[in-house]
Amino acid sequence: MSAREVGVAIVGGGLMGREIAAAIQRWPALIDHPVRPRLRAVCDIDPAALEWFDQIESVTQTTTDYHDLLANPDVDVVYVAVRHDLHEQIYTDVIRAGKDLLAEKPFGIDRAAAKAILSTLAEHPESFVRCSSEMPFFPAAQRAIDYVRSGAPGRIIEVRSAFLHSSDLDPGKPVNWKRQAKFCGQAGVMNDLGLHAWHVPLRLGWEPETLTAVLQDLVPTRPGPDGDPVVCDTWENATVHGWVPDAAGGFPLTVETKRIAPGCKNTWVFEVIGMDGGVRFSTANPKRYEVFGLVDVPGTGREQSWQAVEAGSQSVWPTVTGGIFEAGFSDAILQMWAAFLAERAGALGDRFGTATPAEAARTHELYAAAAEAHETGRRVQPAAV
Ligand SMILES: NC(=O)c1ccc[n+]([C@@H]2O[C@H](COP(=O)([O-])OP(=O)(O)OC[C@H]3O[C@@H](n4cnc5c(N)ncnc54)[C@H](O)[C@@H]3O)[C@@H](O)[C@H]2O)c1
Repeated sequence: MSAREVGVAIVGGGLMGREIAAAIQRWPALIDHPVRPRLRAVCDIDPAALEWFDQIESVTQTTTDYHDLLANPDVDVVYVAVRHDLHEQIYTDVIRAGKDLLAEKPFGIDRAAAKAILSTLAEHPESFVRCSSEMPFFPAAQRAIDYVRSGAPGRIIEVRSAFLHSSDLDPGKPVNWKRQAKFCGQAGVMNDLGLHAWHVPLRLGWEPETLTAVLQDLVPTRPGPDGDPVVCDTWENATVHGWVPDAAGGFPLTVETKRIAPGCKNTWVFEVIGMDGGVRFSTANPKRYEVFGLVDVPGTGREQSWQAVEAGSQSVWPTVTGGIFEAGFSDAILQMWAAFLAERAGALGDRFGTATPAEAARTHELYAAAAEAHETGRRVQPAAV
């Protein structure tokens, strides 16, 4: 299949802008994808942030004013990763410029901003717009969603979807825009992490008819740039309990978004419990999902059981990575090559290195000794290389 080229631009070359630029460079990993993205333009108001993108050969335009890349005829799709208070203006400008948009969550700083973006989109239905939410694309998450869609849970008893972070546990962590309502939004952690937790419930059609919530502001100030305390007026943790009507009578849906969930790194947990079956998945154990059911245990009889299923590497779009490999395999390959070429350049330092020729050759002595031990039934001392 010949892939059509799509010109991509990034507005906001920070944490997420760089991540998406790097992802696009891995595109050949996808099998028979209909398009081939080329990162052509990048905008950041900070010229220093633009320097990183110089290493990407396809980038022909860097600018500190995003209007420049909206005027670029070689740009078809714009990914915008900026502070929440800037979403409405930039998203609506992208749509009005006739470009397609992959927005970042929370899709505007509040509901007024989201409505303004929607109404601009209604005026420009030709613009294709979606919002970033990557967690459901873990292969095991897809299997969990497939399980729910199959109807296997039966009558749903309850659902939990939680996005749990803990990088804010340290009260000495300096304040940043994500911890101030004027930049992040009054919804605080729900703005920051909410779509990660709500995407799959909403996609499965689970709209709460009513809800209650408990919100916590756990850290009211944080050190500013000069060390003085700065007001940190966003909710750190939020737990929403909703009631979702369905044909069987309805069920409670609990959606948690927490910046202070000790022990959790950046974890999405999804659990659906039903009368006939259940499924659960956590990005903390990304290759595994668990299904619940009744099993016949030999010698015991019928028992309730959670069973672990290991998912392979394949998610929504097929990749060259073998299905027998696990999620994260490609990242490990990238790191191994980084170590190999860094060591070759004398720049690995004390980092973990790729296997040496002596280590690789040593394994053959071990295999030979193992074969001899098997054949002779004796303990064998492996020979030196
Ligand atoms: N999908 C995810 O997993 C995920 C993770 C983190 C953040 N986000 C979202 O991504 C967005 C950006 O977050 P981030 O962590 O990358 O922020 P960041 O602070 O690391 O980067 C934002 C960048 O935008 C630049 N910028 C500010 N104003 C600009 C303007 N007018 N024009 C162009 N550039 C401008 C800043 O200089 C900075 O480099 C937010 O909406 C956030 O919620 C998503």
